[in-house]
Amino acid sequence: MTTPLLGGKVAMVTGGGSGLGRAGALALARAGARVAVTDVSAAGAASTADAIAEAGGNAIALTCDAGDSKSVQATIAAVAERCARIDVLYNNAGIAPVGEDGSVADMADEAWERVIRINLTSVFLCSKYAIPHLAKAGGGAIVNTASSMAHVPLGMMDAYAASKAGVAGLTRSMAAGCAKHGIRVNAISPGYVDTPMNSMIFSADELRAGFAAGHMTGLQTAEEIADLVVFLASDLSRSMTGATVNCDRGWTAFKMPEILARAMAGG
Ligand SMILES: NC(=O)c1ccc[n+]([C@@H]2O[C@H](COP(=O)([O-])OP(=O)(O)OC[C@H]3O[C@@H](n4cnc5c(N)ncnc54)[C@H](O)[C@@H]3O)[C@@H](O)[C@H]2O)c1
Repeated sequence: MTTPLLGGKVAMVTGGGSGLGRAGALALARAGARVAVTDVSAAGAASTADAIAEAGGNAIALTCDAGDSKSVQATIAAVAERCARIDVLYNNAGIAPVGEDGSVADMADEAWERVIRINLTSVFLCSKYAIPHLAKAGGGAIVNTASSMAHVPLGMMDAYAASKAGVAGLTRSMAAGCAKHGIRVNAISPGYVDTPMNSMIFSADELRAGFAAGHMTGLQTAEEIADLVVFLASDLSRSMTGATVNCDRGWTAFKMPEILARAMAGG
């Protein structure tokens, strides 16, 4: 006999309308959680919640800008009211605006602030307002989203790399303050996954080949990251807190392959 890993639990996902957030929301639902799918795109959140319902799971959809304090407060209050509790927070929302984010010397102040707000301040805001609910539920888990670029930047998206290094640092620091509430805080550092965020990379044959070669066992899928989300959200990871886990098929352990360095340099 098996009990669902997250049976009876409520999980809130930010940026759940696409890519890794959508895969994570589906996986959390398959593991038995009721999922509050939130996204700045109402259509994205609704589409993921519909997919969960079609698969026999339980979900609600809410529109939320994870980098806006008022929006976050209203959303978390709505989730707590409609679902009666919150046990898991998956801080996934993020942006990687290629061209807007670049080298420090060439970047507009507004681009820096937007990337930091959506990728890092969002983790602060959602955690701040969700923690009282997780504590009230008797403890729980926060899963943050860092990136391999927190550890091995590409040297061309300085704000993104800084935001994700910030997420890893915040994860370590938050874990200590959350421990007294029985809340574990961990982060995932994915490699490069073919999601809408990375459409530019993966639509260019040479770049795709370069990125595939840079992952020791080939390109990874959103579902692989989602499996780790479920693990970190559940008691299977009960001895882990403050960790940032590389889930990147060896990308950060590997030297950037020649083929990718050449493609990124423009030939
Ligand atoms: N795809 C990768 O290779 C990769 C690698 C490392 C880290 N990540 C991180 O994983 C997360 C998800 O990335 P993805 O590849 O699935 O991207 P994606 O673009 O496919 O999905 C991002 C989702 O976040 C939503 N979003 C954007 N701004 C938001 C905001 N202010 N508030 C709420 N939702 C917002 C979008 O509407 C979208 O649904 C991001 O934090 C990203 O930095 C992705």
